[in-house]
Amino acid sequence: RRKHKVTVVGSGNWGTTVAKLVAENTREHPDVFEEEVQMWVYEENVVVPSDSPHYDPAVGDAPQKLTSVINKYHENVKYLPKIKLPSNVIANPSLVDAVKDSSILIFNLPHEFIGNVCKQIKGHILPFARGISCIKGVTVTDDKVELICDYIGEILGIYCGALSGANIANEIANELWCETTIAYNTPPCDQRLTNGVNGAHGAGVPVRFPKTKLTPLPEDYPPLDHGEIHKLFDRPYFTVSMVSDVVGVSLAGALKNIVALACGFIEGHGWNATAKTAVMRRGMLETIRFAQEFFPESIQEMTFWESAGWSDMIVSCTSARNWRYSKMAVERGVSLQEIERTELNGQKLQGISTTKEVMSFLRARGREDHYPLFKAVEGIVDGTFEVKDIPMLFRK
Ligand code: NAD
Ligand code: 13P
Repeated sequence: RRKHKVTVVGSGNWGTTVAKLVAENTREHPDVFEEEVQMWVYEENVVVPSDSPHYDPAVGDAPQKLTSVINKYHENVKYLPKIKLPSNVIANPSLVDAVKDSSILIFNLPHEFIGNVCKQIKGHILPFARGISCIKGVTVTDDKVELICDYIGEILGIYCGALSGANIANEIANELWCETTIAYNTPPCDQRLTNGVNGAHGAGVPVRFPKTKLTPLPEDYPPLDHGEIHKLFDRPYFTVSMVSDVVGVSLAGALKNIVALACGFIEGHGWNATAKTAVMRRGMLETIRFAQEFFPESIQEMTFWESAGWSDMIVSCTSARNWRYSKMAVERGVSLQEIERTELNGQKLQGISTTKEVMSFLRARGREDHYPLFKAVEGIVDGTFEVKDIPMLFRK
């Protein structure tokens, strides 16, 4: 029988970390997965610094292709330095070649790039491929807000679930324990009588499909349901909980980035933990309000108690990049965009674009005043609202 071939689409800080842990698991489960894991890399030139163990005097400061460096040294020197990758992670600069023949596609890149990536791979993937999106963000037009996994599913005509949790890539890459949440609603056409069905946890959640008819996973592939997805991602240092609420997991992961910016602003201004918890509480209320208002048929409030919910809110508001660099922006008195440009070495702050996208959607519907914290964050990013005025939002 055939095996699942896995591709990670994206190779930033989180993309490379997920490629590492997934490749450890494909090695451990050779009956289910092909050992080699393809990792698509947005190709760029890098200079290996002279203090790196991978510095080659013969090459010196000459720029080298990031993919060649990753495949030679098994390290993503730009986005995940000092972490050894398993040798079965293969960096590939060709998107179409990287996804070819893969039955499992793991999407892991900043959300602003997903549209372009989907356009390029449409028609080049297996028709029965299945996706997991590790992306935190939403796609928005003035009249529509879409989960990234639904967007991927619709464009590619495949089923796509979502992975999201309180996950700091560098910690997980160093194998410091944490947990995560994966929402995956095994499509009925993939369910097999001999194997497990969806966990009881998600009972009652309607399955979200692409509108096109799904091509079933062929019988000569191992099944793909909660059991196999768990096998692919769960590590001793990365505890996976499987659920079926794709909406709750996706929205919590996307909207917490707005709240993380608010907490960074608060701390940069000089307030401390008590002020931040007030902002987190308000941010979670607006998140749940948004989910209930725009996805009323699918939302399960218990999801906000999973790692993808409160845990991610807390970690994002106390130690992740959106918090860290928005704090720095206020402390230095410069814009967040400026900090992203000068301090992040190519990494992205998802909160900036998510705030703008969510607010443009709310404004188009005349709903912006029902989300005062999100609106204030937009104002701070644009320079039209002052951090010192945040407490006013809490006065009824
Ligand atoms: P990153 O910010 O570290 O890296 C940016 C990536 O974007 C790089 O791989 C770069 O090559 C790529 N890129 C730049 N221009 C591009 C283009 N035009 N087209 C395609 N790719 C381009 O990325 P990340 O941290 O891996 O983030 C990916 C997703 O994972 C985000 O949605 C983020 O919210 C989420 N996430 C991140 C972490 C974390 O700790 N880093 C944890 C959980 C979730
Ligand atoms: P940042 O992108 O702000 O680092 O967030 C990482 C994350 O999603 C933590 O769970």
